[in-house]
Amino acid sequence: MSDPVYDLYQNQAYPAMSHPSTDPAVTAVAAKLAGLDAPDPSSARILEIGCASGHNLLPLAVRWPESRITGIDFSKSAIKEACEIARIAGLTNIEFIEADLQTFDPGNDVRYDFIICHGIYTWVPGAVRQALLDFCNARLSPQGSVMISYNTLPGWSLRKSIVDLVKQLSGKTSGGLSGSELEKILADLVMAAGNRTAYHRHFTQVLHDMLGQGGYFLTFDDFGPINEPCTFLDFIAHTSRSGLRYLGESRLSENYPGSLAPDALEILQPLANDPHLFQQTIDVLTNRTFRHSLLCRADAPIEPRSNAAMILKFAVRCPHVFERVPEGVRLLNHADEELARFEHPLSVAFFSALSQFSPETLPFHEVIVHMGEFLSEPFDFTRDLAPLVRLATDASRQGLISLRCAPVRFDAASPAMPNLGTLRLLAAGKGQPIIDVYHTPCLLDDERKRQIAILMNGSRTIDELAAQAKTIAPDFNFPAWLRHLTARGMFAG
Ligand SMILES: C[S@@+](CC[C@H](N)C(=O)[O-])C[C@H]1O[C@@H](n2cnc3c(N)ncnc32)[C@H](O)[C@@H]1O
Repeated sequence: MSDPVYDLYQNQAYPAMSHPSTDPAVTAVAAKLAGLDAPDPSSARILEIGCASGHNLLPLAVRWPESRITGIDFSKSAIKEACEIARIAGLTNIEFIEADLQTFDPGNDVRYDFIICHGIYTWVPGAVRQALLDFCNARLSPQGSVMISYNTLPGWSLRKSIVDLVKQLSGKTSGGLSGSELEKILADLVMAAGNRTAYHRHFTQVLHDMLGQGGYFLTFDDFGPINEPCTFLDFIAHTSRSGLRYLGESRLSENYPGSLAPDALEILQPLANDPHLFQQTIDVLTNRTFRHSLLCRADAPIEPRSNAAMILKFAVRCPHVFERVPEGVRLLNHADEELARFEHPLSVAFFSALSQFSPETLPFHEVIVHMGEFLSEPFDFTRDLAPLVRLATDASRQGLISLRCAPVRFDAASPAMPNLGTLRLLAAGKGQPIIDVYHTPCLLDDERKRQIAILMNGSRTIDELAAQAKTIAPDFNFPAWLRHLTARGMFAG
């Protein structure tokens, strides 16, 4: 019997992408803070189910040579491409296997410490969804965790209605609609909706979001052969029936979205004893459309540990713009909007110390040493540690800082002979995104950038690259782009 999901992925290449929320360096922190003694990912066994051409996994194999990484996918061409990249990059700690997740057998004793399952759950038939959860239950190591992403209701309801409407308007099922046909119908709907009421503005915003993804991507995602969003509570019911336990969202900041009002926690206090209903309620309040949920086996040992002991073992960075103000410090996003302001000397010293090393990620205990430079008296562990841990916990939940299980150090200065490394050069050659040290993709959507990127193979000086960049694109600001790539750690590891 024909399987439309199988047919789609055999015939069309899924766009190569990395997903920072799936990075075990990040998910290990969320798992540990939820009480699971997650293993160190640098020597762990990691599996991605539905890995496509390996773009999300390959950088992890470079970063952690001691890890054992497997990617499975039923797309023949995607697995062929992934194997070829691993071979050219000389990676021996990663394998790619062409397999259907429903029948994949990794061998009797194999258990995984981290399973990544991004872009699958919502987009496969019910039987495959069940097989996926059964696999995770059977194959997670006792301290292992799985990150599953999915579309959520009620946030997705309007989008789902738009998808159905577009199919009806076109007179075709999703399989028969090309990306450009989708874009045309969505653009027509924008015109038709007008903008006289708040609802219309919301409606057109959703249409613009969809258009922003691009028609090609939409054919897999919103308009994929199967797209069945569910409520968070339904997801929890399904995963608990399948022997899995919810730990939280894979990024701490996603447990409590920053868009909620400052008083929200107090108002939602009656839900404090029901974390699942709390999460469902904030989905309703924020119209959330997507989740990256982290789960472990239901029988995994969960031991609430002191946040202080754990946080001291993590590494930390502040990804925001830092500014001194007369009363203390403030943090801004890249659109220059204020995110937070701090006056307490401990908070001021914490963010000042972090800003000195941004964009690197420092071990927490090193940050405490550097805080001394900004405090009028030495850091006193008995007096100052508990408030600092509270500050760091709150700041990570608000997305003001990011915690990782290991530091990320790299040179703030551009190397004399910039070299993007094999994986990024291969990706640039194909016009795919290149992945930074934080696992965030950098799109080479500008052909000039792609042409210049492939020259950064360690054989040219900065001056030589600048001269070639001038020939390729006289108006292109090469020094600024080089600084940008350097600050994203593109020349490290
Ligand atoms: C939406 S793509 C996601 C790719 C990648 N995980 C990402 O997020 O960038 C879904 C992938 O899952 C694969 N897939 C879907 N159903 C599968 C199944 N039953 N067994 C194995 N792979 C499957 C598809 O071939 C495709 O590569």
